[in-house]
Amino acid sequence: MCGIVGYIGNKDVKEIILSGLEKLEYRGYDSAGLAMINKDGMHIFKDKGRIFNLRKIVNNDVESTLGIGHTRWATHGVPNKINSHPHQSSSKRFTLVHNGVIENDDVLKYEYLSKVKFESDTDTEVIVQLIQKFVEDGEPVDLAIRHTMSEIHGSYALAILDKEDNNTIYAAKNKSPLLVGIGEGFNMIGSDAMAMINHTDNFYELHDKEFVKITKDNVEIYTIYGNKIQREPYKAEIDATDIEKGTYPHYMLKEIEEQPFVIRRIMANYKDENGNLHIDEEVLQAVKQCDKVYIIACGTSYHAGLVGKHFLENIAGKHTEVIISSEFVYNTPLLSGKPLFLFISQSGETADSRAVLVKVKEMGYTTLTLTNVKGSTLSREADYTLLLHAGPEIAVASTKAYTAQMAVLAILATLVSNNINIDLMKEFAILANVMETLCDNKDIYDKLAYQYLKDSRSCFYIGRHIDYYVCLEAALKLKEISYIQTEGFAAGELKHGTIALIEKGTPVIAIITQECINLNTRSNIKEVKARGAASIVISTKKLSAETDEIIMNDVHGLLTPIASVIPTQLLAYYAALHKGCDIDKPRNLAKSVTVE
Ligand code: F6R
Repeated sequence: MCGIVGYIGNKDVKEIILSGLEKLEYRGYDSAGLAMINKDGMHIFKDKGRIFNLRKIVNNDVESTLGIGHTRWATHGVPNKINSHPHQSSSKRFTLVHNGVIENDDVLKYEYLSKVKFESDTDTEVIVQLIQKFVEDGEPVDLAIRHTMSEIHGSYALAILDKEDNNTIYAAKNKSPLLVGIGEGFNMIGSDAMAMINHTDNFYELHDKEFVKITKDNVEIYTIYGNKIQREPYKAEIDATDIEKGTYPHYMLKEIEEQPFVIRRIMANYKDENGNLHIDEEVLQAVKQCDKVYIIACGTSYHAGLVGKHFLENIAGKHTEVIISSEFVYNTPLLSGKPLFLFISQSGETADSRAVLVKVKEMGYTTLTLTNVKGSTLSREADYTLLLHAGPEIAVASTKAYTAQMAVLAILATLVSNNINIDLMKEFAILANVMETLCDNKDIYDKLAYQYLKDSRSCFYIGRHIDYYVCLEAALKLKEISYIQTEGFAAGELKHGTIALIEKGTPVIAIITQECINLNTRSNIKEVKARGAASIVISTKKLSAETDEIIMNDVHGLLTPIASVIPTQLLAYYAALHKGCDIDKPRNLAKSVTVE
């Protein structure tokens, strides 16, 4: 979703901000803007569209060493130039960029700003007008910002410039992520370490309701009440080259191909000095001692959670329920006596999941986050964290994080179990090789996508047992990047209504990796073929029929979802490619969904 990057130092700020914003493009956005201060005053460039449009309108003659930039994902008001950030107060003294959503903007307009003429439809403009009002009422700038923070309800990461002070960036945070990047002779502000990683790997994390004053040589963090906070910086473990695309045409393809390597990296990170699987004993005890695991997640992470439930129940014998984050908060199920809440989130920033975390922490329950981003909000705020070690995932459509989530859940379930008889290290080694072979044979997915998916308006994935969970993820992947209406269905359920949608040529893709359902799913394929469907079967070698289109080598029966999803990711990739879609940045989507 929206992204922020700001810089104060000695270098020309334009390229630092523009390339920082480019690093945030993966989060999804529809408009972009930049504000700079120099001796001639404030210079603002913004418009709807991509950063390369912004590059075209930025005046290269403006020289400045202080600026803030923004990518906007519209929530209040359509994506257009006026609603793009930065926004200014009426006097043009204050300029700011904002990530998040202000919930009481209408009340504040009525209460404090009834005489102000608003230019945009955004909630953000209320913040900058409020700062100006409090300054006009006689408050010093930092007090006016903290006063504003106490009036606004909702989520915000703010970077603010004052035209009368070209030595300072002000910043504030609540719920939306924000980091300060620390350098020699410069400092930065950003909503994501990736926007700053080419300049520094040293960061201060900011907590909710904190206010910051940043000059080129100094960073001061305060509470909302103005009390100074001492904080140790931390080093981000991101390799700048990890976020480059290299020779790949798309990040998604790169990330799909990285999956076997990610499995090997997970093995390396979750083993002890004797080569045995290892997870921190405190985490294991927390899971062992609970009477039920509640997995909370959204989208792809939710689909990994469904497989996680299968692992925890079948390997570890732990009752597990999987709940969509946005449903849990307002429709909380009856909870068991001693629950453990397991949050699955690639980004660790998803607002829907965080809302649940805040709620269950207030209820006093134990929390564990499974995330790809060390130091992310969900990681910091939960009692325990398990990392995915998938490396930065840039394509909006999640691939390697999904397989990493399932792999770490398999390790957790195995170590929680007292008597399971799986040599997971050996099985993971086999799995990584099978995944590699699946990635190697790309022609087949390319051809199938061209033949069956390119011109289709709708598609179905069908499967039973754990294959059904993979079907849900496969359908999400296909629809989000190729815009083909796709449903993942329990194969046996189709005949109870949805089979009415099958027409001549409708693609129905079946996944078959479990012996106990092989024949049933094959019967369901016959049913849809009899009604004109064009079927594609993905199966394992052991269960394959000669006519199956995609046959994968065998892996341990519990681990099949980690491999069988790969053909579906590649089918989605090639379908989107043939349709000419923007694969890494699908329309309307954001990588890190930081609003509820
Ligand atoms: C789909 C996708 C989303 C995310 C969802 C949760 O490809 O990436 O469905 O899985 O928005 O995001 P995280 O895992 O960051 O909480």
